[in-house]
Amino acid sequence: MSWNGVPETVRWTGMSIEKRQKTEMRQGHAGTGPGAITPDGCAVELYARLPVGDEPDIVTAAVPPGAHILELGSGVGRVTHPLLERGFMVTAVDESAEMLERVRGARTICGTIEGLELGETFDVVMLGSFLVHTGDERERRALLDACVRHVADDGCVLIQREGQDWHTRVPRERVDASGFTVRILSADPVGDGVNSVRAEYEFPDATWTQTFLSRPLTEDEFEEALREAGLRVDRRLTEDGVWMRAVKATRG
Ligand SMILES: C[S@@+](CC[C@H](N)C(=O)[O-])C[C@H]1O[C@@H](n2cnc3c(N)ncnc32)[C@H](O)[C@@H]1O
Repeated sequence: MSWNGVPETVRWTGMSIEKRQKTEMRQGHAGTGPGAITPDGCAVELYARLPVGDEPDIVTAAVPPGAHILELGSGVGRVTHPLLERGFMVTAVDESAEMLERVRGARTICGTIEGLELGETFDVVMLGSFLVHTGDERERRALLDACVRHVADDGCVLIQREGQDWHTRVPRERVDASGFTVRILSADPVGDGVNSVRAEYEFPDATWTQTFLSRPLTEDEFEEALREAGLRVDRRLTEDGVWMRAVKATRG
């Protein structure tokens, strides 16, 4: 997928690198609600409100203390900030400058994951937010290639997948303890094994929606996608297999 955007500055303890943010919407993605919307349909104000879940605990249990983590698709830092508090070093990558403006205490890089060429490797690369389910198989390969390019030979890649029934158990809703309701309203086939998913987040004072394309992956399809990119599954990090730890296939 190509990205046409405006030049954006990457800040890292005084260093400055010219990068580009993606500004046009990704095909099949849309978002509604107050504030800026990212190319994949996420609302910046929504992610600034969403509480963190068990992600920091899962990562902490899977990687060495103090590891340098490359977090791909970091958003506003919902997961980044608790990881920093736990003593990890984080480099946060996102194609949305509006999202990255909210990140504090981490090196931030504005650009697409597909185009990322930092010329350095990390102990841990995180591909969260179900990005591995992108509808476009070439883009999925490009995302996984970016993970492989940036992970140290003895490092690991942490990947967050969708649950196996997420596209069939619709509509469904969950009321969060902090006072908002999240609904998955529909997951409609749009061809070639891809679904158009519509999600809604309702707060007392505002409602956001996101529509995005997602390709469900069986266990075999996931492992094959990793294999093609030169990765292999090391282990499940959660019983439901949503979080997976992968390593370079060349590693013994
Ligand atoms: C669903 S949000 C989640 C943000 C964060 N990981 C969290 O859990 O709070 C996904 C984020 O990934 C970014 N993103 C999606 N696809 C991307 C890509 N190909 N390259 C760079 N950023 C991407 C979006 O801009 C958005 O900020």
